[in-house]
Amino acid sequence: MSQITPHSGAIPRTAAVIPAAGQGLRLGGGTPKALRELGGTPILVHAVRAMACARSVSLVVVVAPADGVGKTRSLLEEHPPPPGVTQLVVPGGTTRQESVRLGLAALPEDVEVVLVHDAARPLVPVATVDAVVDAVRGGAPAVVPALPVTDTVKQIAPPAAPGEPEPVVGTPDRALLRAVQTPQGFDHATLAAAHAAHAAGDDATDCAGLVERQGVPVVLVPGHEEAFKITRPLDLVLAEAVLARRRPAP
Ligand code: CTP
Ligand code: MG
Repeated sequence: MSQITPHSGAIPRTAAVIPAAGQGLRLGGGTPKALRELGGTPILVHAVRAMACARSVSLVVVVAPADGVGKTRSLLEEHPPPPGVTQLVVPGGTTRQESVRLGLAALPEDVEVVLVHDAARPLVPVATVDAVVDAVRGGAPAVVPALPVTDTVKQIAPPAAPGEPEPVVGTPDRALLRAVQTPQGFDHATLAAAHAAHAAGDDATDCAGLVERQGVPVVLVPGHEEAFKITRPLDLVLAEAVLARRRPAP
């Protein structure tokens, strides 16, 4: 495992935390989702590369399942990062929020910009990552890539009894809804404070939600359709197709 090297120079040091400790229950298949292969390469390796290839990222912290740290380390040693980028593996927790918190705890204090990126979004284009970093460097404390939603979304109330139809209570204006992606980018101190304030019992599905609850403004930048999250089996089929389209024809 390579060591963290002191950083010098005027560019704010940027690190990426990659939560990869989930089980991938909705994808199924037994193997943890991050270790499933896409184009013959584990999903996690794609995600690490996407972060490591972005401008200014010098440290990538992968948060692995607690019982899979050694395996994840060996895997990443087989796929070394580009020169100037260090990768670390730390054990995760039982929720995404806890895994992110454990990843943040591994960051050195001199890191100024933090990206939090789902391992399950292996195909995010580098230009999207760079746009998030640039917006944080430009002074935004929290930046989220997002896309307009294409489906109409209904708000429901809990059904009268399990198995009963769900009653609709509202239809939010779709024009004002956005589907958010990762990497989400933050000023390091802002994200650390938000996590410290919501240490337990509050499983946010994204980090920006915690920052919002602190009253800190969160802004959106355009996301990318290839930054979709691999959640269900059909997503894996789509990801293979995207990857095949990227590869130059023989
Ligand atoms: N994650 C994590 N630690 C957890 C749960 C999730 O690091 N305890 C990570 C996942 O590895 C994934 C990201 O958070 O990269 C987004 O979560 P999700 O897509 O829900 O992945 P899983 O939790 O693995 O899938 P599922 O919910 O279907 O089990
Ligand atoms: Mg999950």
